[in-house]
Amino acid sequence: MKIFLHSSSYRSGFALVATAVCATLTSSHLAQATAFTNTGSIANTRHNMTQSTAGVGISNTMDLARNDYGEVCVYCHTPHGSSAAIVAPLWNRTTKATSYTLYSSNTLTQTVAQPGGSSLACLSCHDGQTAIDSIINMPGSGGYNANQATTQNTAFLNTWNNPVGRVDTIGHQGLNSRNNIQGDGMGSQGCLVCHSDTGALGGATDFTVFLIGTDLRNDHPVGVTFPTTNGPGTGFNTPAATAGTARFFDVNGNSRMDKGEVRVYGPGAGGAAAAASATVECASCHDPHGVPSAGVGSTFNKTFLRMSNSGSALCLTCHIK
Ligand code: HEC
Ligand code: HEC
Ligand code: HEC
Ligand code: HEC
Ligand code: HEC
Repeated sequence: MKIFLHSSSYRSGFALVATAVCATLTSSHLAQATAFTNTGSIANTRHNMTQSTAGVGISNTMDLARNDYGEVCVYCHTPHGSSAAIVAPLWNRTTKATSYTLYSSNTLTQTVAQPGGSSLACLSCHDGQTAIDSIINMPGSGGYNANQATTQNTAFLNTWNNPVGRVDTIGHQGLNSRNNIQGDGMGSQGCLVCHSDTGALGGATDFTVFLIGTDLRNDHPVGVTFPTTNGPGTGFNTPAATAGTARFFDVNGNSRMDKGEVRVYGPGAGGAAAAASATVECASCHDPHGVPSAGVGSTFNKTFLRMSNSGSALCLTCHIK
């Protein structure tokens, strides 16, 4: 808890919000309820790392834990000077070289290998190894550090000043509970110190289940080849349409890989085993920007899914079961 005692404004900010949520905490905790509207834009989702539209006080509450760059896209993309470390569009995040523990089972018919760019992008936050605000190119001129593509440099991240009147970030936190990734001697708490039942401060929405980690054995396989012909015992539908080296289920038949359409990825964005057969990656099932559930302006599908999984429709897009 000591890390948070450095700033009384931070403490009172937390107390303010905590009071507001306290009454509903025990029930809302597990429901993963959100203050965001989940409509219109990624700005209105949990993927807005400024946390600024979630309501008065919430953004400030996160100030000691992550730089508030005052922009939504910049935590993931930059228009110039993007990363060559992974295949992901105009990627602005630190992606540490990592060997993931892969899913395995006796019944698999396909090859599972290290995840491709369309998973590594997500894992750059969701494996818990890297600070949420660890980017290559900060807003404004200057504020660029090419080494950030693979290495988190705390001194560089400290050059950012949060909005006037707010405290600056002293611990650049990741989606973990106890790993000391910020390397600044400020203690070892990650975002889960507040966002979990067991965290020292606890009390905020429990994000424990969102921490995928580096052990992928308990997750739907990624970096797994998609069968070009149906494997023994297990049937698969065929994503017949192509976009470059990716293949997709062209539900609306317009020959474009639309955000609501499930896809598999070719080499690069796809995993190490992707060649003739593309691979399933995180972004096969999820779109990190949100996908309207019923046309423009409607609420996004839950958990950033490309399509609703009501009746297991997502699973049955690929699997014939
Ligand atoms: C000092 C405690 C604390 C820390 C540390 C903290 N948060 Fe929060 N966070 C809160 C509180 C309190 C709220 C508002 C109540 C809620 O939504 O759980 C909140 C809200 C949020 C929300 C909005 C939740 C929603 O959908 O309504 C997100 C997203 C979030 N925090 C992300 C983070 C991230 C990422 C980190 C680490 C970089 C972090 N938080 C660190 C206390 C904290
Ligand atoms: C939390 C991280 C994150 C944020 C924030 C984010 N993106 Fe993305 N974006 C991604 C990822 C990951 C992909 C690649 C998806 C894939 O592999 O298919 C992507 C892909 C894209 C693409 C390529 C086409 C597509 O949809 O796949 C565009 C364009 C794009 N983003 C624009 C934006 C803009 C504009 C913003 C801000 C309003 C933004 N993104 C915010 C993670 C993010
Ligand atoms: C910049 C860091 C970052 C990146 C990159 C990122 N996420 Fe997240 N994601 C978060 C944070 C922060 C939350 C809020 C909850 C938490 O802190 O775990 C979240 C929440 C989620 C949730 C839960 C949403 C909900 O409403 O319950 C899903 C699903 C998710 N992310 C999937 C993905 C996928 C898939 C990708 C890649 C295509 C991705 N994320 C990339 C930071 C990130
Ligand atoms: C085969 C499809 C598929 C793939 C691939 C996939 N997910 Fe998911 N993911 C889902 C579905 C479906 C849910 C909703 C589960 C639920 O409602 O409990 C989900 C939920 C989540 C959540 C919210 C936690 C939860 O269980 O509610 C996060 C975070 C997440 N996924 C991240 C990722 C990341 C990161 C990857 C890549 C390593 C990934 N997903 C790969 C289908 C997938
Ligand atoms: C983008 C296509 C795709 C989607 C969507 C998808 N899967 Fe899969 N899934 C695969 C592939 C490919 C494999 C590897 C199968 C193999 O090796 O035989 C797999 C593997 C699995 C396995 C492990 C099989 C084993 O033998 O160990 C399970 C279980 C599974 N999927 C369940 C689901 C569920 C449940 C959903 C919906 C939440 C889902 N899948 C969505 C493509 C998909």
